[in-house]
Amino acid sequence: MDQATSPAPWTARVVTLFPEAFPGVLGLSLTGKALADGLWRLETVDLRRFGIGRHRNVDDTPAGGGAGMVLRADVVGPALEAAAEGAPQEHARWPVIYLSPRGRPFTQAMAQGWSRGAGLTLLAGRFEGVDERVLEHFAVEEVSLGDFVLSGGEIAAMALIDATVRLIPRVLGNQASVVEESFAHGLLEHPQYTRPTVWEGRTIPEILLSGHHARIAAWQRAQAEALTKQRRPDLWRAYRGTHGMDLDGDTEL
Ligand SMILES: C[S@@+](CC[C@H](N)C(=O)[O-])C[C@H]1O[C@@H](n2cnc3c(N)ncnc32)[C@H](O)[C@@H]1O
Repeated sequence: MDQATSPAPWTARVVTLFPEAFPGVLGLSLTGKALADGLWRLETVDLRRFGIGRHRNVDDTPAGGGAGMVLRADVVGPALEAAAEGAPQEHARWPVIYLSPRGRPFTQAMAQGWSRGAGLTLLAGRFEGVDERVLEHFAVEEVSLGDFVLSGGEIAAMALIDATVRLIPRVLGNQASVVEESFAHGLLEHPQYTRPTVWEGRTIPEILLSGHHARIAAWQRAQAEALTKQRRPDLWRAYRGTHGMDLDGDTEL
């Protein structure tokens, strides 16, 4: 396929006050190699470029009073417009996401969905956040990394990009590992072991050394179910529901 007809690779566009933070860890290891190989693309839009006045101010005091500063709509708005250039217009193929503790909790299923699209625009907040009107105007989706508050959205954007990019075909050398790992089947992953066979008096479970693939798979599944049941009752309930099981994990007749 020549350059003119080949589709653009999956693209992350990050609107941020700190473009120098990127690619950061995304430039290392598998995601870094895939970036260098052109399997995905990373672009930053510098919010400061859209700042107002001689000092390129991007923030102002919150309406109604209160602590901190808020990113201005007339700064973030033009930056999001610049980020939309060349992106497919359908929201499903190229959503605009604001990393925010108020957002929908980020999940593997969201990463899977986005990895099948064309790309994402990610708005990394700072200070107390972003003027609400700009979020409404651009139908921005808010996504949270968890119930804690970071100083800025850049680390959250990197986490979201990392989880999504590794699901793009050919980014991970071994696609089977994506299918087997935590959350892929609604379960946490089973324990993993490698050499040496004995370490500090602890041995690898014998079944894993048996070479009997079917029994190993059954053992790993049982371990994954037990771990999920113990550590994540929320995931366990959902898993039971989709697999027709009772509370203990026994299949209902
Ligand atoms: C100090 S925080 C603002 C917190 C905001 N005042 C609140 O209470 O919801 C600054 C920026 O960090 C990012 N951020 C903080 N915590 C986050 C989280 N749990 N998930 C995603 N982004 C987060 C957001 O982009 C946010 O605009």
